Amino acid sequence: HSKYIPFQPVRKTDRRWPDQVIQEAPTWCAVDLRDGNQALVKPMTVAQKQRLFDLLVKVGFKEIEIGFPAASQPDFDFCRKLIEEDRIPDDVRIQVLTQARPELIERTYKALEGSKRAIVHVYNSTSTVQRQQVFGMDREGVKQIAVNGARLVKEIATRYPDTDWTFQYSPESFTGTELDYAAEVVDAVTEVWRPDLGQKVIINLPATVEMATPNVFADQIEWICDNIRRREHLSISVHTHNDRGCGVAAAELAVMAGADRVEGTLMGNGERTGNMDLVTMAMNLYSQGIDPTLDLSNMAEITDVVEACTEIATHPRHPYAGELVFTAFSGSHQDAIRKCLAYRSEGDPWNVAYLPIDPHDLGRRYEEVVRINSQSGKGGVAHVLERDYNISLPRWLQIEFSQCVQKEAETNGGEIDSLTIHRLFEQRYLDV
Ligand code: KIV
Ligand code: ZN
Repeated sequence: HSKYIPFQPVRKTDRRWPDQVIQEAPTWCAVDLRDGNQALVKPMTVAQKQRLFDLLVKVGFKEIEIGFPAASQPDFDFCRKLIEEDRIPDDVRIQVLTQARPELIERTYKALEGSKRAIVHVYNSTSTVQRQQVFGMDREGVKQIAVNGARLVKEIATRYPDTDWTFQYSPESFTGTELDYAAEVVDAVTEVWRPDLGQKVIINLPATVEMATPNVFADQIEWICDNIRRREHLSISVHTHNDRGCGVAAAELAVMAGADRVEGTLMGNGERTGNMDLVTMAMNLYSQGIDPTLDLSNMAEITDVVEACTEIATHPRHPYAGELVFTAFSGSHQDAIRKCLAYRSEGDPWNVAYLPIDPHDLGRRYEEVVRINSQSGKGGVAHVLERDYNISLPRWLQIEFSQCVQKEAETNGGEIDSLTIHRLFEQRYLDV
């Protein structure tokens, strides 16, 4: 991705534990329009869905779950609109979710009629608690639901030979399922989906509820990768939620453990505490010198569209995207940032204290980096005068003037903007 030239060389040879770093970006699947949408107080309108879909395409997602058309008329209508108005770029695959129930699978294919390529995502819950308390079924019965669903998915696909199909199966609540049983169900499904239609197959392993530390989830993924029958065209996907606050970490460790695909949402909107946040994981890769294959260089546009469609504000400390994440108020941080920026020459790799990446890479401005309040010091005040007014102060004056700014900030109790700093400077030294 030409925009994303890693700012640090990838020093693969320095890495002593190559399986303990991610070497390349996984395939991403954005599920904002399905998992994200189903968790909203006010589900998205078709117009909002279209806006968010267009953003996801612009950012570079090639797989986008657009809804659950058999369960929701707006989702059905949105799917038809995308197909009939030819709004899906040729390199993008839409994905739709359905439970493994015959009437829902039939209706799902109706929604997809005429699509050039699509992922049919079928799921049923396999966890011990759901088997015992929700369905009152034994292991065999629940496995049969998956197998029957997989059979029907395959059978109906043959009626639409002009569509390039991918089949996806999720043992929902995988993290609450006995591993040997999960592997047994997965093997039974992939046996049905042998690629005789030329279709690709995705096995998606959800942390429907995040139940353990991320290393445990990664161990579960590794175990499944080692113990299922591996087949051609089979991709292992993960879908993590954030109940323990570790959705991104779990997805990252799962990729190190063998997953090659990650489902999530922009800013992590989704059921309960949300899905894993694709922005954070993609930018984590970027900050390690790995091309995320997504273009996040206009973060303001991304947060604007996500906020408009979900009606959820971005937290000011949201990694990479929040208003305050590239801002320093404290004197020692400001001083260090100022010195590192001055030390830098054009073309140098990014290496600035307190700023893990160059804010410019996300379309952020340096003006927001150094902001002044009562905790700021001489470095910060000098930086603002230099940056905004080309006024460079000798050290003794920096000390004196910053004390004056600090007093003002203590009185006002909040932030002192650049205009006020300049006015104070003029009043004090230029007699204006
Ligand atoms: O969290 C989950 O288990 C899901 C499945 C339907 C994949 O969203
Ligand atoms: Zn989910």
